[in-house]
Amino acid sequence: MSLELNKILGAVLGTVTFTLAVGFVTELVFKKEPPAKPGFEIAVAEAAPAAAATAGAPAAAGAPAAAAAPAPAAEVVAPIAERLKTADAAKGATTAKACAACHSEDNSGANKVGPGLWNVVNRKPGTHEGFKYSDQVVAFGQTATWDYDNLDKWLTSPKALVPGTKMAFAGLKKPEDRANVIAYLRTLSDNPAPLP
Ligand code: HEC
Repeated sequence: MSLELNKILGAVLGTVTFTLAVGFVTELVFKKEPPAKPGFEIAVAEAAPAAAATAGAPAAAGAPAAAAAPAPAAEVVAPIAERLKTADAAKGATTAKACAACHSEDNSGANKVGPGLWNVVNRKPGTHEGFKYSDQVVAFGQTATWDYDNLDKWLTSPKALVPGTKMAFAGLKKPEDRANVIAYLRTLSDNPAPLP
């Protein structure tokens, strides 16, 4: 009798367990798939509301900031060849007083903390006589010239153009200051290089 009951209970339990197991496995199999597909399908539908939500939130609080942000990126610096057309060498001479702490600017070509700047336009970097350059500037000179473009980059940030240079000068942030200084550097020669 109790053996019969055990069999029945066993059968019931077995069925329940089997049902649960099937349900569990079914869930594993089918729960996994749906997220993959709807994710792809919903992406289309949700992309717009999501974008609208994120765009909407800052739009309320920071619309001016959002509008102002693209402005600096959109502000394109004219190439140095263009800026030199309106550059002012006299103003450049004033700005270049900051350079004179380290550079001689007369035709003595004397070296100070930095190499003499006489005839620097179109010179090979790292080649001024008697100056002990960093290896980095000498290496830069293997492939480059101090043309207007490179001078513009150099004066924007010497360390960005030639990492490891020992010219301890942060750079001239204003494109027009650099153009003026370069126009002035050009005059430091008996034979100024042609303008671009
Ligand atoms: C704190 C000192 C210092 C100041 C200020 C400074 N320089 Fe220099 N400059 C140097 C040194 C040092 C070097 C050599 C860099 C090297 O060998 O890595 C150098 C190198 C140069 C070179 C490369 C010359 C060559 O023969 O290859 C140019 C061009 C130059 N400087 C221009 C300027 C100009 C223009 C200014 C001002 C806007 C300026 N520097 C301000 C110290 C200075």
